[in-house]
Amino acid sequence: MQRLVKATIDLPALRRNYALARCRADGRQVWPVVKADAYGHGMFEVARALADADGFCVADLDEGLQLRVAGITQPILVIQGVHSGAGLAAAAEAGLTLGVHGTEQLELIEKDASKLASGSLRLWLKIETGMHRLGLEAEKTLEAQDRLSGLAAVAELGLMTHFACADSADHPLTEAQATAFGRVALSAKGPTSACNSAALLTGCYRNDTVVRPGIMLYGASPLLGRSAAGLELAPVMTLHSRILAVKEVPAGCSVGYGASWTASEDTRIGIVAVGYGDGYPRHAPSGTPVRVDGCEVHTLGRVSMDSLTVDLRRAAQVRVGDEVVLWGQGLAVDEVATAAGTIGYELLTGVSSRVPREYRVAEAT
Ligand SMILES: Cc1ncc(COP(=O)(O)O)c(C=O)c1O
Repeated sequence: MQRLVKATIDLPALRRNYALARCRADGRQVWPVVKADAYGHGMFEVARALADADGFCVADLDEGLQLRVAGITQPILVIQGVHSGAGLAAAAEAGLTLGVHGTEQLELIEKDASKLASGSLRLWLKIETGMHRLGLEAEKTLEAQDRLSGLAAVAELGLMTHFACADSADHPLTEAQATAFGRVALSAKGPTSACNSAALLTGCYRNDTVVRPGIMLYGASPLLGRSAAGLELAPVMTLHSRILAVKEVPAGCSVGYGASWTASEDTRIGIVAVGYGDGYPRHAPSGTPVRVDGCEVHTLGRVSMDSLTVDLRRAAQVRVGDEVVLWGQGLAVDEVATAAGTIGYELLTGVSSRVPREYRVAEAT
């Protein structure tokens, strides 16, 4: 039997968002971020749909190797780099570009570089500019560049950083990070890369040679207080399911686990075949928006593993079998995320493997 819950992935919408990123990149290379299974959209399908991308970014070695096995030939940046000699050798063999964010990684590369083929290593040093998460201090970066550029295995030495607050308009840390990166980037011997989606859209830094957009490609907003539609981004994933049952709950009766919602009047409710086992957030409170048959309704009571409940008092026409949109077309994932106290990134990446992905490859006519 086919599952009622599905995620439809609109590849033409992905390409339109990517075209917008290219336009904003204004001649810089665009390396889409496809880590975490392309934010839940399917890493292979997304990479193949963006066949003209200049490169791709993933979080770890396994993701990079999987893309190579799938036949992706563009440069691939492994953001977190490698953590062992075997990882270094595998990355060199597969022609992956490695982020280098700490002294342990530098020492590993210096120790093992002589075992690798000449010109087989592409390294991007990650600079600490204000995120205080991963990265080498500016002075250490300059010293590392000198040391690594003398190694025969090293073919490319890039520089990168990551903004902490580019999503908030005019946050002072963004300017401080841009200035700090710009200063070190003057010494660059290869590509430089700073911009994520938010930085690309705000234009807070324009001097890098490679941009790394993620969330904007998937049609969610990277900017606080700005809607995806207002930024001309189209939703790529629509998570949808169907009404499993419709019933009347008498006034005074509660619904669902924990009896957390009680009807104050006789209430028509719908049970939807989707739950936290599919990646719908269990912490979404009563009142989270859902679309049924073109109307916005709201959840009530607790989200269960395989179902949730919606209030149908203002949608009397809804019947068993009707389509329900949890987010995507007609209901922005950011709206659901705000109601659930999280971000679109978490909802999109959290859609579980039991939800079948269906790919739309052509523009709707
Ligand atoms: C290093 C790095 N660059 C770029 C991105 C893409 O960011 P966004 O999805 O906000 O565009 C991420 C995402 O987490 C990242 O970790």
